[in-house]
Amino acid sequence: MAMRYLLLFATLTSPLLAQLADGPGMAETEKNCKGCHEVERSVSLRQDKGGWNNTLTKMVGFGMKAKESDLAIIADYLAKYYPADSMPPLNINTAAATELESRLGMRRSQAAAFIEYREKNGKFKTITELKQAPGIDPAKIESKKTEIIF
Ligand code: HEC
Repeated sequence: MAMRYLLLFATLTSPLLAQLADGPGMAETEKNCKGCHEVERSVSLRQDKGGWNNTLTKMVGFGMKAKESDLAIIADYLAKYYPADSMPPLNINTAAATELESRLGMRRSQAAAFIEYREKNGKFKTITELKQAPGIDPAKIESKKTEIIF
């Protein structure tokens, strides 16, 4: 019984405790990037290494005292785990027309046809099923399938 509560507690609290992606450079980032603001703020951007280097330069300008060697490690860490092209997954069963347009390159009329079909027929469960829906470009879905959730 106690164990069950412990597990529940761990499940509920872990997203709050695990603030940074686990990987090489996490310790250096944690140490240097939580002094002035929450560490969540430090990883609130998604950008390439050049972008992250600019942010680090900006933080140094604000008075961050990090070793040169740490800066290089942190830049690598941030560019790897918080990269420019990382998009949150697209839930195809709840996505709004604007999201379908921007994420899947649909025209407005295609997004409208798709949503109408989704409302009538209920939730999609597989990529194969999704590819057959109106307004959908199967090739586009194939290329984006790792971003799509149901
Ligand atoms: C010496 C204090 C200090 C430290 C240490 C620090 N920051 Fe900042 N950071 C700031 C200030 C000041 C702002 C701007 C806050 C504001 O506008 O309210 C900021 C804002 C940010 C923002 C928001 C976007 C932006 O560009 O304004 C990001 C992202 C960020 N910091 C990343 C980092 C990272 C990554 C680290 C660790 C490498 C870090 N910070 C360490 C002072 C610091």
